[in-house]
Amino acid sequence: MILWIGCWRPGVFFGGTFDEMAWPLKVYATLCAVGLASLVLNSLWRRVRPAPVSIVRHERRIIDLGEEWRQRIGDLPIGSGRHQSLARLSFNQAFQIDISTRTVHIPHLSEVWDGFTIVQWTDLHLTGTVDRTWFQRVAELTAECDPDLLVCTGDLIDEMSLVSWLPDILGPMHAPVGRLFILGNHDWHQQPERIRDVMVNEAGWTDVASRTVACKADGRQVLVAGNETPWLGDEPEMPETPAPGTDSLRLALSHTPDNFPWAIRQDADLMFAGHNHGGQVCLPLIGPVYSPSRHGVRFASGAFARDGTTMLVSRGLSGRHPLRVLCRPELVRVILKTGASHETMA
Ligand SMILES: [Fe+2]
Repeated sequence: MILWIGCWRPGVFFGGTFDEMAWPLKVYATLCAVGLASLVLNSLWRRVRPAPVSIVRHERRIIDLGEEWRQRIGDLPIGSGRHQSLARLSFNQAFQIDISTRTVHIPHLSEVWDGFTIVQWTDLHLTGTVDRTWFQRVAELTAECDPDLLVCTGDLIDEMSLVSWLPDILGPMHAPVGRLFILGNHDWHQQPERIRDVMVNEAGWTDVASRTVACKADGRQVLVAGNETPWLGDEPEMPETPAPGTDSLRLALSHTPDNFPWAIRQDADLMFAGHNHGGQVCLPLIGPVYSPSRHGVRFASGAFARDGTTMLVSRGLSGRHPLRVLCRPELVRVILKTGASHETMA
């Protein structure tokens, strides 16, 4: 629009005036200008927005796994899937993993929960382009995070013939309290019941779709509810919040962060989501410009809190199109901190 109006009709950069424009074009240009201003202001707000007070520490460790492969075998971990040329672009960050560790304060839990660690996988989007070995390396890094609980929030498969990769990648992963998953909209486009069957019976994960599962952890209890709406199943209702003093951690899994109000209604301490991929291609200063969400890029990625529920939206591990610009794949790790007082964010 800027080039059109500025250089061609009416060519305001070269002496033309806006009055020469036809009224439908004036209306359209005005809407574009409002949209652009809104995008810039929103982007600035997202950059200066303080982290939720429940996030007391946030550390990032970035590992260029593509470089590891280049040094080892002289090539990137690219298989025979589609869009290989995208995956090979020099500025593409698709093989650089960002291990994002947030310490989250949950005041109502007793101190036996201090240090309890949850790792989230989401949005694998297996197409065969990002090779199975890359995901297996991420699984090794996950083991180094020493998780008590593993959760996976969907979009596992984009190429149904690769469903056999799931037991190879996710099967050997270990977490003493449990490994729980839901599916996402891309699984819904494939064969969700087949994917579910492989995850449960061959990879050994627990399906929490449309229900709440109670996991025992050394006398402690973790309640995990899975919500695959609006694509699959129903919104599960978690049991009533137990009486004060009952030491239960309440987790909500949802593929889309748009279900944040549901998690708040369930009194969830934490909600894990993916789906938006952090925008996947971000602009300098502006950040993400598109996310498949009712809220635009508001919940593209990051930490959000409302009414006692903290939501963590992961940028995910991959995408149907293996292109990431200023938006590395992310492995989300949460370490719990309890008690009435806590240190300020580092
Ligand atoms: Fe996705």
